[in-house]
Amino acid sequence: MVSQSRFLFVLTLLPLLACTAVQQQKQAAATRPDNLEFHNLRVLPQNISKEELENTMRFFARSLGVRCSHCHAANAPGAKPALNFASDAKSEKDTARAMMRMSERINKDYISKVATHDGKVTCMTCHRGKTVPNDFDPAPAPPPAPPARPEGAGGPGAPPPSAPPGPTPQP
Ligand code: HEC
Ligand code: HEC
Repeated sequence: MVSQSRFLFVLTLLPLLACTAVQQQKQAAATRPDNLEFHNLRVLPQNISKEELENTMRFFARSLGVRCSHCHAANAPGAKPALNFASDAKSEKDTARAMMRMSERINKDYISKVATHDGKVTCMTCHRGKTVPNDFDPAPAPPPAPPARPEGAGGPGAPPPSAPPGPTPQP
């Protein structure tokens, strides 16, 4: 009986131990800079993981409605990979860096001091799928509904429906 319960104990403990080991591996992976392939990061953290960097880049592209090549210069035709991600040849990449710093400042110095909704300014807040936010063109407003006023009312001499109150008498 004793040996059986010990066996059960080990059985339940094993997955726990395995989980801990995986957890420790994960933590090691998170703190180990696995960015050795990224050589030209000036704004993003040097130890950013590959996955985090890729998610950030996809978010940039989605926010501006562009492809990676909007900011990243091309390698020689036929070369693999097609883009030289570390190159700073395209001015859009430096603009993006300025925008990253700007967004960080807006959040740190302004939004965080007033926010009650945990809101944050991101590339998407302004760009919304366009390279130049000003391109946004709201749909034309519907024509104003005719004033609902009974026939005959509001003839000549009648006060306009939204007449402001008369001047307050001064003492
Ligand atoms: C809006 C501009 C923009 C777009 C679009 C964009 N990137 Fe980037 N990318 C940057 C900037 C800026 C950096 C440098 C960040 C820094 O200095 O910290 C960068 C850095 C990188 C790096 C690291 C290069 C190195 O060695 O330093 C990789 C890899 C990368 N981008 C991949 C991509 C991929 C893949 C896409 C498309 C899904 C993409 N980027 C779309 C602006 C952009
Ligand atoms: C507060 C609003 C705002 C935020 C937030 C913002 N941008 Fe911008 N961005 C602009 C405006 C406005 C322009 C156009 C400037 C001009 O007139 O050339 C612009 C232009 C750009 C351009 C140049 C576009 C082109 O093709 O000429 C890039 C690249 C860019 N932003 C990237 C980013 C990225 C990446 C982020 C997030 C890290 C970001 N922006 C966040 C307002 C913003």
